[in-house]
Amino acid sequence: MQTDPLWYKDAIIYQTHVKSFKDSNADGYGDFRGLIEGLDYIQQLGATCVWLLPFYPSPLRDDGYDISSYESINPTYGTIEDFQSFLDAAHERGLKVITELVINHTSDQHPWFQRARRAPKDSKERAWYVWSDDPNKYQGTRIIFVDTETSNWTWDPIAQQFFWHRFFSHQPDLNFDNPDVLEAVKNVMRFWLKMGVDGLRLDAIPYLIERDGTNCENLPETHEVLKNLRSALDAEYQNRIFLAEANQWPPDVRPYFGDSDECHMAFHFPVMPRMYMALRKEDRTPIVEIMRQTPEIPNDCQWAIFLRNHDELTLEMVTDEERDYMYKEYARDMRMRINVGIRRRLAPLMDNGRRQIEIMNALLMSMPGTPIIYYGDEIGMGDNVYLGDRNGVRTPMQWSTDRNAGFSEADSAALYSPPVVDPPYGFQGINVTAQERTSTSLLRWMRRLIAVRREFKAFGRGTWEPLHPDNRRVLVFLRRYKDELILCVNNLSRFAQYVELDLREFQGMVPVELYSKNGFPPIGELPYLLTMGPHNFLWFRLMPPEQAKQYVGQRS
Ligand code: GLC
Repeated sequence: MQTDPLWYKDAIIYQTHVKSFKDSNADGYGDFRGLIEGLDYIQQLGATCVWLLPFYPSPLRDDGYDISSYESINPTYGTIEDFQSFLDAAHERGLKVITELVINHTSDQHPWFQRARRAPKDSKERAWYVWSDDPNKYQGTRIIFVDTETSNWTWDPIAQQFFWHRFFSHQPDLNFDNPDVLEAVKNVMRFWLKMGVDGLRLDAIPYLIERDGTNCENLPETHEVLKNLRSALDAEYQNRIFLAEANQWPPDVRPYFGDSDECHMAFHFPVMPRMYMALRKEDRTPIVEIMRQTPEIPNDCQWAIFLRNHDELTLEMVTDEERDYMYKEYARDMRMRINVGIRRRLAPLMDNGRRQIEIMNALLMSMPGTPIIYYGDEIGMGDNVYLGDRNGVRTPMQWSTDRNAGFSEADSAALYSPPVVDPPYGFQGINVTAQERTSTSLLRWMRRLIAVRREFKAFGRGTWEPLHPDNRRVLVFLRRYKDELILCVNNLSRFAQYVELDLREFQGMVPVELYSKNGFPPIGELPYLLTMGPHNFLWFRLMPPEQAKQYVGQRS
């Protein structure tokens, strides 16, 4: 089958860690063989693409984002052949695969760093990383991991110089002013693309280049590096994509799409916390406001929308006041906080409220972009705030009530992380097997939601046009693509609401509800009145009466 070059626009991405998904050899760590076994499940959910967190050799001090060898597999997860088998198995099912290209930094155990620190000062080899005799250089640069780091410079006793790192002090930043580094990184990229990987998530790309007198983020030279990588991608491969991790305000993210000559996709970081804020405030304003500030992007580019991921719910892209509000509402317990954010999963953030979880997922599936589901959130998994760093949201996938949640047959003590055990999120209650059995389960509801979304291209490709009804507790928008016209109505409130919509532009058309295929009364001259239950959402297709005939009056 021909691949549509814009496949990523219609994708549903499932994000998981090999380590956390399924352990096939009872050593306590998930592996590629286990992941292959889990592919049916991912496919049945309706996902079309798997995004894997880093699986390369690593001291695992940053869960694999500290890479010590770029072109191999952490032996705990399998072999390169296992990876190839996984890739083939995914492709056979029509699933795409996105992996990580972590190029801003390496582990300090990487041979490049080991060579650099021992090479003479000012030598070519030393210059693979960013060094200084003066730890006051680049003063205007913020520290990202404020909980653990006090400076972006760390003294290296072997090199007798300070090295630069935007993240942990065991993760030295590569020096992209050095053309050898760029070439080496391109070869890493080619290595994985040649194996057949469909997309690369470009980790932490705003920080590739440093310059005096700037905040060392989003610099024009950084964009040059990305254009360079993209031109190699386009020249040598087809239908492969870059997904940008640029945790920045919308106007600063926009350049990462370039003129369709940088990244195909970028996470929409600022809208993420605002979906939570809008729900808790019962007011659509935070979402509408950030979308108003979101620039247009080129036609072949796409936002990636997410509710949760492997990191904390970052509050870097909100105002101080908004941050206080989020902490107060979603992280009263200090243990839930880390860096500038909240380390919790979706279900606990929603206090396990089924309606709340549903409407958040409805937003995930209907906001403009490609949705990313974080493994386990589709069954409402909980987290463990007693684990260090962000490990509380990285616990084993809960498959069944069997030992170790059906994740692994190892001794419990051998697991990379304990599974969640306490009610209401413990694996005895929350697991895939139980939810397969119950037609009302969250998992089965998620499958239906995704199936409905996949019927219409408008969700992935259409416009996003907010309506402005008086009742601000209701978020209403249109998604338009070719002859598809979808109306999404979301009651953010915990109480019933009514909303009057100005739909005069569509007079005569019939709203057909997408789940039931029930035709609603045609749109007339008067405001269109809808009554919404608590946290209720409705998706309609607006259809000309002739086409809607089959749906009208069938079920009374
Ligand atoms: C990215 C990853 C995060 C990691 C950081 C540093 O932001 O998402 O998990 O800690 O890079 O490598």
